[in-house]
Amino acid sequence: MTSVPTLTMNNGVEIPQLGFGVFQILPESTRSAVLTALETGYRHIDTAQMYGNEKQVGQAVRDSGLPRSEVFVTSKLNNGHHAYGDALAAFARTLDDLGLGYVDLFLVHWPMPAVGDYLETWKAMEEIYRSGRCRSIGVSNFNPGHLQRLLDGGEVVPAVNQIEVHPYLTQATVRAFDSGHGIVTEAWSPIAQGKVLGDPVIAGIASRLDRSAAQVTLRWHLQRGDVVFPKSVSRARIEENFELFDFELTPGDMAAITALNRDERTGPDPESFNWIP
Ligand SMILES: NC(=O)c1ccc[n+]([C@@H]2O[C@H](COP(=O)([O-])OP(=O)(O)OC[C@H]3O[C@@H](n4cnc5c(N)ncnc54)[C@H](OP(=O)(O)O)[C@@H]3O)[C@@H](O)[C@H]2O)c1
Repeated sequence: MTSVPTLTMNNGVEIPQLGFGVFQILPESTRSAVLTALETGYRHIDTAQMYGNEKQVGQAVRDSGLPRSEVFVTSKLNNGHHAYGDALAAFARTLDDLGLGYVDLFLVHWPMPAVGDYLETWKAMEEIYRSGRCRSIGVSNFNPGHLQRLLDGGEVVPAVNQIEVHPYLTQATVRAFDSGHGIVTEAWSPIAQGKVLGDPVIAGIASRLDRSAAQVTLRWHLQRGDVVFPKSVSRARIEENFELFDFELTPGDMAAITALNRDERTGPDPESFNWIP
C-alpha cells in the first residue's frame, strides 16, 4: 500500500501530508467514510468539535484495528470555548468523545478577533500540550497579526496554521509568514469544495497527464509543501484523492496553477468571522 510522506513539525512530531477531512459529513455517515479512508491508506483524519462527529471518528479508528500510533487525529476547539477554563473542559470532552487516549493535534479553530481572547485561549492550549494528552497544538484561520500576538505573548510556537488555500486563494502572505516562523501550513478546502475542478488551466494539465482535476489540484498543494485533507463521502473519490504519489507536476504546471489566484474565498474571512455556535 502507498505510504504518504510526512512533514516534521517544529516540535519534532511527524504529520502525514495527506489526510481525510470530515467537515459536513453527517455523524451517521462518518464511521463508514473514515473506515473507507483508512482502508484506502489514509492515516490522518481532520475533525473538529464544530463538526459534531468526533465520536464517530474515534469509533472508526478503534474499529479499523490499526494501532493507535499509526493514525494521526486532529480536532479543533469550538468558538464558544475560548475562555481558559472552558478550553480545558472542551478539550477533555474531545478526549472522551474520540476515545483514543490522546489527540495528535489540537487547534484553535478560529481567532475571532472581535472577541479578542485568543491569547488566553492559547495559554490553555499550552497547558493542554504540557499535560501530555495532546502531541501538538496549533491554530486555524490565523492571519499574521493574530499569529504575531501568540508569538509575542505565548511560549509554544504553533505547530501548524490551518487556513483556506486552493488555486483561487493561494495565500502567499500567510504561507510566507507561517514558513518564516517554522509553522506548517495546512490547506483547508483544497479543491475549493469542487469550484476549481472545471478550471480550464487545471483541466488542461489533467488531460495531458491523464489525471483528474482533483488529483492535479491536490498534487499542486503537496508539491508546495502544505498538508491537505480532502473530504468525500464517495469511495471512488476517496480512492481518487489518494492516488497522488505516482506523478509530478512540472515547474510550469505549478506556476500556471498558482497564477490562477484571485483571492476568492469559499468560507468566511477570519478578520470578520466571530460566530459562536
Ligand atoms: N479549519 C477550518 O476552518 C476548516 C474549514 C473548512 C474545511 N476544513 C477541513 O478541510 C477539509 C476539506 O475541506 P472541505 O470539505 O471544505 O472541501 P474540499 O475537500 O475542498 O471539497 C469537498 C467537496 O468536493 C467534493 N469532492 C471531493 N473529492 C472530489 C473529487 N475527486 N472530484 C469531485 N468532487 C470531489 C466532495 O463531494 P463528495 O463528498 O460528494 O465526494 C465535497 O463536496 C474539511 O473536511 C475539514 O476537515 C477546515
